[in-house]
Amino acid sequence: MSHTREEHLWIPESDLDGMSVDTLSVRAGQIRTGQLEHSDAIFPTSSFVYGSAAQAAARFGGEEAGNIYSRFTNPTVQAFEGRIAAMEGGEKAVATASGMAAILSTCMSLLKTGDHVVCSRGVFGTTNVLFQKYMARFGVETTFVSLTEVDEWQAAIRPETRMLFIETPSNPLCEVADVKALATLAHANDALLVVDNCFCTPILQRPLALGADLVIHSATKYLDGQGRCVGGVVVGPAKYLDEVYGFIRSAGPTMSPFNAWVFQKGLETLPIRMRAHCDNALELAKWLESEPSVEKVFYAGLASHPQHELAKQQQSGFGGMVSFMVKGGREQAWRFIDGTRMISITANLGDVKTTITHPATTTHGRLAPEDKAKAGITENLIRLSVGIEAIDDLKTDLARGFQALED
Ligand SMILES: Cc1ncc(COP(=O)(O)O)c(C=O)c1O
Repeated sequence: MSHTREEHLWIPESDLDGMSVDTLSVRAGQIRTGQLEHSDAIFPTSSFVYGSAAQAAARFGGEEAGNIYSRFTNPTVQAFEGRIAAMEGGEKAVATASGMAAILSTCMSLLKTGDHVVCSRGVFGTTNVLFQKYMARFGVETTFVSLTEVDEWQAAIRPETRMLFIETPSNPLCEVADVKALATLAHANDALLVVDNCFCTPILQRPLALGADLVIHSATKYLDGQGRCVGGVVVGPAKYLDEVYGFIRSAGPTMSPFNAWVFQKGLETLPIRMRAHCDNALELAKWLESEPSVEKVFYAGLASHPQHELAKQQQSGFGGMVSFMVKGGREQAWRFIDGTRMISITANLGDVKTTITHPATTTHGRLAPEDKAKAGITENLIRLSVGIEAIDDLKTDLARGFQALED
């Protein structure tokens, strides 16, 4: 049936069917008000009003759909959820106060005491702490295995294993997991495969299409891309997302409307930013590999990377994260970092500004020494989140780091 544009204040989802992720990033999920604003509106309100006591009762009783209170739903947050769900190819999304809240909410809503998790060793340090210290207190045990060795995953599975958790590419060593193989293993054992897709974003990798059950993001990273807000999101089928929603509605790690608006706008430039990040990162990785003071470079776009072929198959780009070891130890790594002048020394990643980090003493500093060693977080390791500045200027600044090693 034909319709005039006036009848539709927003673009019906069916009109975007089959469109590319580049289009979905600017068009999906917008909720337009009667003011007919072109850009997305923000709804900074904690609660919503009703026309009558009976309507309030119907909303609370679930007989009438609609907003009640912003811990449950908020139109700005729903707009962000609708857009990222479309981009990841998921049925639903639930936004959370941070990336860690997204991981916690997934665990709290889908696991119970006595369940077992298998997690890759090379995950973000706090994810490791969440599983080892906090989930363990509630009787959920986690076994850590190599991200890349499917045999280790197989061997770690127990009858009570309910979740396999991965980050691919991993932080900070950029190892790449075989998502299809791990999804098959999870499903053969009645477990879920959860993928932290923070490094690739849906622009470079869509884990649900590869067989994963749930995708997690720290929206703080590339989805915002300009280092402004902390947030997270879980994406997947309604049967799991309804459980996650039930948890955040009761426990409260909800995303704020303002943050949701920032992320919504961030998504609009995500495709072009990711391409610029990928181009700069590949160029820098090759350049670093040729530097005599560098012991090793970790970037899946390099032919020397052990999972280069796998990354080519399941990703449409290699991402913006590059890690490398300088020759020496902590002293040399710190001297290199302090030698740079423009690049920001900060733990955040995925920003348009290039950032530099010493993982062993920052993001992964809370890991026990033996866990650090197993995860390959050495004292001479430096992580770069490559931004979108001019490539020659990035080389100029990094060259100051190399100069500091000589002085
Ligand atoms: C891969 C990855 N996942 C999850 C998180 C946690 O996200 P947040 O800091 O938004 O809680 C981070 C944070 O650095 C991360 O790098």
